[in-house]
Amino acid sequence: MSNPQGERPPAGQNPGAWGNFMGWLDERFPATETFEYHMSKYYAPKNFNFWYYFGVLSMVVLVIQLLSGIWLTMNYVPSGSGAFASVEYIMRDVEYGWLLRYMHSTGASAFFVVVYLHMFRAMLYGSYRKPRELVWLIGMGIFILLMAEGFFGYLLPWGNMSYWAAQVIVSLAGAIPVIGPDLMEWVRGDYLVSDITLNRFFALHVVAVPLMLVMLVFVHLVALHHVGSNNPDGVDIKKHKDANGVPLDGIAFHPYYSVHDIQAIVVFLFFFCAIMFFAPEMGGYFLEKPNFEAADALKTPEHIVPVWYYMPFYAMLRAATYPFLGLDAKFWGLVIMASAILLPCVLPWLDRSPVKSIRYKGFASKFMLGLFVVSFVVLGYLGAVPPSPIATGAAQLFTATYFLYFILMPWYTRVEKTKPVPDRVTMR
Ligand code: HEM
Repeated sequence: MSNPQGERPPAGQNPGAWGNFMGWLDERFPATETFEYHMSKYYAPKNFNFWYYFGVLSMVVLVIQLLSGIWLTMNYVPSGSGAFASVEYIMRDVEYGWLLRYMHSTGASAFFVVVYLHMFRAMLYGSYRKPRELVWLIGMGIFILLMAEGFFGYLLPWGNMSYWAAQVIVSLAGAIPVIGPDLMEWVRGDYLVSDITLNRFFALHVVAVPLMLVMLVFVHLVALHHVGSNNPDGVDIKKHKDANGVPLDGIAFHPYYSVHDIQAIVVFLFFFCAIMFFAPEMGGYFLEKPNFEAADALKTPEHIVPVWYYMPFYAMLRAATYPFLGLDAKFWGLVIMASAILLPCVLPWLDRSPVKSIRYKGFASKFMLGLFVVSFVVLGYLGAVPPSPIATGAAQLFTATYFLYFILMPWYTRVEKTKPVPDRVTMR
């Protein structure tokens, strides 16, 4: 093929239809440049391990939630009289409606599984440390939005647990001195959880929060690719580069990790489908039993509990049992719960260790991280059981150990003996 001037391109350099199209596009939009920057010329450390799968899996679940959510919205009716019936209609009459709903409800729990593991990885390898503080902070923004998204979404089926859980959580605002009662009414838009509340939660759940989530995930990745990924050794791969400026311990994200991640996606989808098809209620943990009855303002469920992923924070809320400074226990419960959620934001500045990865930290860091995990899991269990003096005492103890992980960090990370960090990444 010759060009408009009648000249033939040199042999082997004929761009073909695709090349011509990309040439046209690149003159108008940085398509190839963006692909290279974020994929084929993004050099990720070659020692990524199992823990590095959960970022891409979070993206997979985000896509599942967005797609299933859009299709559910096509048949859902956001009103007190129509919501519960419309969900039943989706389950029974809409073609594959049951699949869409179970995909979305299983996806909600899967989101928290993968995001909790993703956050734990950052804690293991010190990925929140300089220069990735902003990646971590944006991640915390995502996490808080995700909690809000789950809460707003939970009211939408208008089941009895949806109704009462929203009632309990919104009424927490009432414990704030001075502004509490007005704030509570403002959030609900009414004197009790009603149609008005359902409508605003619907707007937030399907438009406002997903939009913010997608934007934050985008900037999360832009910030990460600007500074480069951390790795299980916590060493900087940019210190050793070849003559072309390529890190010696780095490999191109595409095709190496893009193909590698497909394995994880397939295994993940296998488990996801197994739950979605065979155990979507997960014994009442993913879909709670009282939610199979419509909301009833006159019938309080015997035991109001949030979904499993909020349990550790719920246990901390219930752990506050004494009034203090003239303010009632509910207020202090709210303060403890909010601090527990927000405290990880300051992790980058609490960790004073000379090394990043847990592999090279001392015994104190390993012990405290272990204690943190045990506290979080036990609190999750305690949030699910009915309150009793023993459960409350245990919740108080484990709330204290959860906070100690953070509060003592500036001290134990500075005084403990660390191991020497290798110069280059290690493959184990
Ligand atoms: C929708 C939720 C999220 C998505 C889709 C997402 C996505 C990703 C992806 C694709 C990566 C790069 C691959 C990897 O390192 O695994 C990453 C890295 C990272 N994410 Fe997230 N993320 C999410 C939530 C969070 C949260 C909640 C946090 C923490 C509060 C967080 C903190 C980090 C950190 C620190 C890194 C850098 C890790 C390293 O280089 O070692 N992310 N994220």
